[in-house]
Amino acid sequence: MNNDIERVLYSEQDIAEAIDRLASQLTEEYKDKRPIIISVLSGAILFTVDMIEKMDIMAQLDFIDVSTYFGGTESTGKLKLIHDLNKDVKDRNILIMEDIVDSGHTLSYLIDLLKERGAKSVKTVSLLDKPEGREYDVEVDYYGFKVPNEFLVGYGLDYKGYYRNLPYVGILKPSVYEND
Ligand code: IMP
Ligand code: MG
Repeated sequence: MNNDIERVLYSEQDIAEAIDRLASQLTEEYKDKRPIIISVLSGAILFTVDMIEKMDIMAQLDFIDVSTYFGGTESTGKLKLIHDLNKDVKDRNILIMEDIVDSGHTLSYLIDLLKERGAKSVKTVSLLDKPEGREYDVEVDYYGFKVPNEFLVGYGLDYKGYYRNLPYVGILKPSVYEND
């Protein structure tokens, strides 16, 4: 798996430092708010686990899975709710945890959904923010790194479902795509 990586962008050490910084900011922000932390499956799992163990607050955890809906070979651009939350978000402070925000489609969909369901506040934290990819008017409240417009894998991010378990974030070798 490691041999398929062209270049490491963020090492385990880089990620750990970003998480320390974000976790202390969010501990301050949420110390009296008893938020529900919503982790967006599957990419945000590694980030969520490492974040919540560094956040010294009373918080509950829930998961949601949203995917781009593919009708045949063409993406319709519509999002599909694959797995819904277990918790009621009404009147709760919500912190969404994402691996990466690219077009912003997923995030804007989630923010609208949570507000419709009566959430008291909705904020977002993403390890990575890819601002050049943005197509929806949505802002990430807290982010670890702003990344270039390249396809990244590792630390939750996948290519065809693989590479999520790399402990760092890197760029795939072009030969990996070419052979597919
Ligand atoms: P958005 O809805 O376009 O903002 O994309 C969000 C989702 O697309 C993320 O949660 C990722 O699952 C996926 N994604 C976006 N960019 C990348 C990437 O560079 N590598 C892997 N997955 C990505
Ligand atoms: Mg994702």
